[in-house]
Amino acid sequence: MSSHDKIIIAIDGYSSSGKSTMARRLAAKIGYRYIDSGAMYRAVTLHALRLGLVTPATVDSDAIVKSLPGLRIDFSIRPDGSQITLLNGEPVEKEIRSLQVSECVSLVAAIAAVRRALVDMQRALGREKGIVMDGRDIGTAVFPDAELKLFVNASADKRAERRYKELTAKGETISYEEVLANVRKRDHIDETRSESPLRKAPDAILFDNSEISLDRQDAILFDLYQTTISRHNEAAY
Ligand code: DC
Repeated sequence: MSSHDKIIIAIDGYSSSGKSTMARRLAAKIGYRYIDSGAMYRAVTLHALRLGLVTPATVDSDAIVKSLPGLRIDFSIRPDGSQITLLNGEPVEKEIRSLQVSECVSLVAAIAAVRRALVDMQRALGREKGIVMDGRDIGTAVFPDAELKLFVNASADKRAERRYKELTAKGETISYEEVLANVRKRDHIDETRSESPLRKAPDAILFDNSEISLDRQDAILFDLYQTTISRHNEAAY
C-alpha cells in the first residue's frame, strides 16, 4: 500500500463515550496504528501526581510545564493490537486508568504548554498516515485535514454506567453516583476550557452510540472508512 492509499481517522468525543473501543477495533480491522491521545494526557497527569504537582482541587501548572523535558511517553503494542502506555519506559497502562488520575487529568489537559507538547508528539505519530487517533481535539486541532472525522457521544447516564462497570471490574470501590459526577465534571471542564475545548469539527460525522451494538458500530465504521478511502483514492489519481 503506498502512502497516498492511507488516511488519517480522527475520533473525538465525550469521556467514556466508547470512542477508544471504536478506534481500536477499527484500527485492528483495517491494519492501521491506533493511538489513544487521552492516554498521553493521563501519563502526564500520573507524572504530575507522583511529583505532588496536582490534586483534584489544585494544579501547579508552571512546575508541571518545567517537568515536561524529563518525561518521555511511548507506546508498545500487545499481540492483540491493544496499546500499553510507557512513561519513561515504565508500563503505566493500569495506573493511568485509576480514579485518582481521572480526577486530575482535565486540570492537566487544560494547560496550554502541555497541550502544545502533546499535539506535537501526536502530529509526529501521524506523519506516515495509516492512523486512527481518538481524543477531544484530534479533528479540530491536531489533524484538521484528517480525511475521516467522527464525533462520538452517548448520554451521560450511559457513559457513567459503562465507566462504572469498567472500574468495578478492576476492583475499584466506587459508587455509580461518584462515577456519574466525575463524567459530568469532566464534560464541563473539557467543554469550557479556553485551550482547544471539546467541539465537534464542522466536517465531523456525529455518531451517537447509546443504543448501538458493538458489531453494528464496527460495520458502520468500516463502511465509512471504505467510502472515504475510495473517495480519497479517486481524488489522488
Ligand atoms: O479519553 P480519556 O478520558 O482517556 O481522556 C482523558 C482526559 O484527557 C480527558 O479529561 C480530556 C483530556 N484529553 C484532551 O484534552 N485532549 C485529547 N486529545 C485527549 C484527552
